[in-house]
Amino acid sequence: MSIISVVGPKGGIGKTTISINTTAALTRALGSGKNTNRICLVDLDLRLPTITSLLDSHPAKTFYDLFECLDNKVYQVDFLRTVYQMVTWFESYIDGDISASHDKLIDAFHHYKAMNTELFMSSGFKFGNAIEEMLIQRSEIKSLSQIKALRSTIRKIDLKEYRRLLEEMDKTARPVMAEYINYIEEYGFSIIGGEVPILGKRGHRKRINEPEFLLRFLEFLDGVFQKFEYVIVDTPAGGVNHLSSLMNVIDQVLFVFDLSNTIAINGSIDALHSFIDYYEEFQADYAKGQLMGLDRAHVNRLIAQKGKGDLYQFIKNKKLGIVFNRCQNNQEIENALKMIRDYLTTLDKFHQYKSRIHIVGLVPQHKVINITNNRKSMFYNMDIALSERMDLVAKGILSDNTICPTLADNDKTIIRYLSKFKKPQLLDRLTNKVASNAN
Ligand SMILES: Nc1ncnc2c1ncn2[C@@H]1O[C@H](COP(=O)(O)OP(=O)(O)O)[C@@H](O)[C@H]1O
Ligand SMILES: [Mg+2]
Repeated sequence: MSIISVVGPKGGIGKTTISINTTAALTRALGSGKNTNRICLVDLDLRLPTITSLLDSHPAKTFYDLFECLDNKVYQVDFLRTVYQMVTWFESYIDGDISASHDKLIDAFHHYKAMNTELFMSSGFKFGNAIEEMLIQRSEIKSLSQIKALRSTIRKIDLKEYRRLLEEMDKTARPVMAEYINYIEEYGFSIIGGEVPILGKRGHRKRINEPEFLLRFLEFLDGVFQKFEYVIVDTPAGGVNHLSSLMNVIDQVLFVFDLSNTIAINGSIDALHSFIDYYEEFQADYAKGQLMGLDRAHVNRLIAQKGKGDLYQFIKNKKLGIVFNRCQNNQEIENALKMIRDYLTTLDKFHQYKSRIHIVGLVPQHKVINITNNRKSMFYNMDIALSERMDLVAKGILSDNTICPTLADNDKTIIRYLSKFKKPQLLDRLTNKVASNAN
């Protein structure tokens, strides 16, 4: 399994376009045939997912549904399970089976008093009203012995039936991965994510900042990643702040540099810098055994899968790659390279990182991409010159970047590599002409 994340500082610089077409090129390079578990394109843009509509292919369930489902699982099923245990202890006490000094009963009582009920929806559950009643009575029940006042409320709850319902809910509350993955026959790869703005819903914005919820979301993604040989993640503008743990499982980060826009170039350099910082911090914390929270939970799972030694190597070998987009001439490439080198030099990081930052590919400013922008961003296969550009990116990824030049190489070598494909310039010009006529 290999995970490639396409990142960039802002919208409109070509992350989605490059994600889609890299996925297409990788698919062809791997010759996926009928194997539906080779490549998956993940739309991690939770604010404005676009891939499903761009490719006009719609999974049965989207990340919006996933959020709803996890929400249900985290807050309803878990809440109901806690209440179930609580009621069991209370009932034993009321029936005189245990005394007031029983540890579990004391725990249950404290839990009862402190429970956060804000997210509980009583209406969907058979014993919801009784639970609601029990919770309202909290204000009158000040000491453990007063639990006896709950007798008549608790009698309304049939614990056997409660348990059966809970087990049923537990089964359906778990997201079924297959419903979220959509294999597109025409393209030979799968997509997941989309399609309504997930973070548009207030509840979801809240959820994504809750560690417990986030961990469940990441667990689900991790499950998806495990299924595929290659995963391309289209990452939202500015990266994945709330998903920083996700960065731990990524093998390669591809930074998109929009050469037509100096501000965007500076933004991409800044994103590159953030990642270097992030990796260094992560590596240091890992070495010192100081990882916390989500990072730690995630790494523990990774260790279980890969082994400890492997993991350290894995973290140290993470790859940083650059794809230049909207390129119009070589001078732009030289300028951008200079800006990157200068910046890293100022940070005193150039020598350490120059050989780790690979130049993976280049996409020219191109009419075909522009005219296809509304419906289908899939330019791969529509234009031979562009397809070959993407083939180079795919080859780089498949070689673990070993064939790609790095910032340590000189500009000439880099530019020669980036134009290393059959030169169908005539074809290129022709397609451009066709495209502008179509426009
Ligand atoms: N190299 C390019 N030449 C011409 N148009 C491009 C190029 N790359 C991207 N575009 C267009 O720019 C717009 C934004 O691209 P997109 O991939 O959605 O960016 P992002 O995902 O970074 O927001 C789209 O309409 C796309 O078709
Ligand atoms: Mg995008």
